[in-house]
Amino acid sequence: MEFRKNSRIFVAGHKGLVGSAILRLLNNEGYTNILTADRQALDLREQSAVDHWFQVNKPEYVFLVAGTVGGIMANSTRPAEFLYDNIMIHANVIHASYLHSVKKLLYLGSSCIYPREAQQPIDESQLLQGPLEPTNEAYALAKISGIKMCSTYRAQYGCNFISAMPTNLYGPGDNFDLHSSHVLPALMRKFYDASHSGSQVVEVWGTGAPLREFLHVDDLAEACVYLMNHYDDADHINVGTGTEVSIAELAELIRLVVSPGTEIRFDRTKPDGTPRKLLNVAKIQDLGWNHKISLEVGIEMTYKWFLSQIGHGLELRGHRNV
Ligand SMILES: NC(=O)c1ccc[n+]([C@@H]2O[C@H](COP(=O)([O-])OP(=O)(O)OC[C@H]3O[C@@H](n4cnc5c(N)ncnc54)[C@H](OP(=O)(O)O)[C@@H]3O)[C@@H](O)[C@H]2O)c1
Repeated sequence: MEFRKNSRIFVAGHKGLVGSAILRLLNNEGYTNILTADRQALDLREQSAVDHWFQVNKPEYVFLVAGTVGGIMANSTRPAEFLYDNIMIHANVIHASYLHSVKKLLYLGSSCIYPREAQQPIDESQLLQGPLEPTNEAYALAKISGIKMCSTYRAQYGCNFISAMPTNLYGPGDNFDLHSSHVLPALMRKFYDASHSGSQVVEVWGTGAPLREFLHVDDLAEACVYLMNHYDDADHINVGTGTEVSIAELAELIRLVVSPGTEIRFDRTKPDGTPRKLLNVAKIQDLGWNHKISLEVGIEMTYKWFLSQIGHGLELRGHRNV
């Protein structure tokens, strides 16, 4: 079932990294009936408010991409928030989608749902096959319950709710706040700060050895719309590039683009997180979707966007202020 250009499509979390990319794509592709509600208008943790909003706005399709999201530091210091917020958001939105007969919902999980020692590259069957990475266990548990909500609502009520597990994302709209950002925007911000403060050194958390995969958010947005149109299974599906770099290699790529004169120093007292995290993306590739933006090009695009935001006079502080 393909959604039409005039279908009522709710992008939950439209101001975030992912939500804003989906909104951009839908607008560019001529979708005319896109519904949004920011946190002030609708706190998705509030069940009755969410139910009322669905009753009034009657969305036919839902991209559920809202959530409390962050890097290792935020996950380790605010686990209760990560668990509570994310469970409440998906419980309310998925249940309201069922009650109000949404035709299809796409829920976004994360590659953090897989066990710390998952076999690499990680295919979808690895879910719940071992202990989780302790530094993001609360977030992962919340996300796993979201996947299970989609599959149980499908099994019990016949809802066409699907879930996709993206790898690490980056791109325009990312969070560059050093207290809550993910590794790629955090490094970009650190190198930018170093180049503007005359500092010769950037500290990188951990040993630099962990291997990670990065997907540009515009590629993810394409994948989400593709899945909305072409995927109707109960099982979740991975979304990534299928390629990986070490944190040291990533830091070097960003250093070259942002501040070639700065030296990298690894702070080995800080945690590394999962040693390796590469998704097996054979399933989505077999379905006909592939990423387009290389990491090198994506970093340059993101840095251009970052600079353009500074050019608009926004402060380099706070959540998504750049
Ligand atoms: N970023 C990644 O690397 C990554 C990787 C894998 C999966 N994901 C998944 O992708 C989804 C989106 O992530 P993101 O990176 O786009 O996060 P983000 O940039 O932090 O955006 C999250 C969005 O959710 C909204 N939101 C949060 N709590 C809300 C609430 N209580 N009520 C209403 N809106 C609320 C935020 O609103 P405000 O603007 O008001 O804060 C924001 O628009 C999440 O489910 C995440 O698990 C992200």
